[in-house]
Amino acid sequence: MRKEVVLITGAGGEMGQALITQLSDSGVNNILALDIKPLPKPLRRRCQLALQGDILDKALLDRLVSEYSIPRIFHLAALLSTRAEFTPEAAHHVNVDGTLNLLKLAVDQSSWMGRPVRFIFPSSIAVYGLPDLETKAKVGAVKEWEWNVPTTMYGCNKLYAEHLGRYYARHYRQLAARQQVDHIDFRAIRFPGLISAFTMPSGGTSDYGPEMLHAAAKGEPYACFVREDTRMPFMAMPDAVKALLDLERAPRENLTTYVYNVTSFNPSAGEIYALVKSAFPEAQITFKPDDKRQGIVDSWPLDQDDSRARRDWGWQPDYDQQRAFEEYLIPNIKRRYAETV
Ligand code: SER
Repeated sequence: MRKEVVLITGAGGEMGQALITQLSDSGVNNILALDIKPLPKPLRRRCQLALQGDILDKALLDRLVSEYSIPRIFHLAALLSTRAEFTPEAAHHVNVDGTLNLLKLAVDQSSWMGRPVRFIFPSSIAVYGLPDLETKAKVGAVKEWEWNVPTTMYGCNKLYAEHLGRYYARHYRQLAARQQVDHIDFRAIRFPGLISAFTMPSGGTSDYGPEMLHAAAKGEPYACFVREDTRMPFMAMPDAVKALLDLERAPRENLTTYVYNVTSFNPSAGEIYALVKSAFPEAQITFKPDDKRQGIVDSWPLDQDDSRARRDWGWQPDYDQQRAFEEYLIPNIKRRYAETV
């Protein structure tokens, strides 16, 4: 018999690490973690198996199908927005072809198990693209179907991957003599920028938020690459994990769409600076906007309208801006760097 596991791709990324910690704390002991890099040791212990491998390696994925029964997949592996602009074609391979491989794996799994595979996919604020700052200010919080004209490769990839998920869930092989629908129970969340107290992002364009905070805590100078008045939504990592798990648990019949916005607070870079400065008065932070990365954040909305998620699956963040900084970020970051000094 094949062993039943929960598959997490991109397991060593920020979200993967937080998700593994939360799942294993809640008693899940059959995690199969997959990442292109070796998983940090403390996390490995929380997994049944930690595989170092590439989601583009079809032979590896076939092996997983033959050895494991996989009713739940958290497909987190991706190349983020800044990194993707340096290697757009490579980003497309990972973000699109990699997702296609995982969807195919889910179809195969579902055929073996005779029931749908739950496929949880983090999408992003990067799927939105606003033409200029005037429009950004005017439209405010965007709804899921508005302004789906991304300017980055990563945004295009995430938007298309959402469509692939919907296609595999509803229309896969629609001309077959015996069409088998309901292979995949696809559920996607469009996250805002994420901030963790325990890990640092790499390769994203919302990284100025977490970078400012972590640099201040380490006593390192930091030049913020966007203007002080730059505003976009952010979320504390525990809420991001909560959103993934809440959506995963939601009864299918309550869901009216495949893709949901979630958000919690939306500070300007200047407001993040003020919060950081009040916790770390010695912080040496300057603003040195990089026109190109600034342009990407300027194309992202001021805020996301998450009323559909609130209505369909009771989404509600635990951390507003004040609580995120005062109760989660600052104390944990202080502790973390005090331990490592
Ligand atoms: N945080 C991501 C990025 O900056 C957005 O999804 O690329």
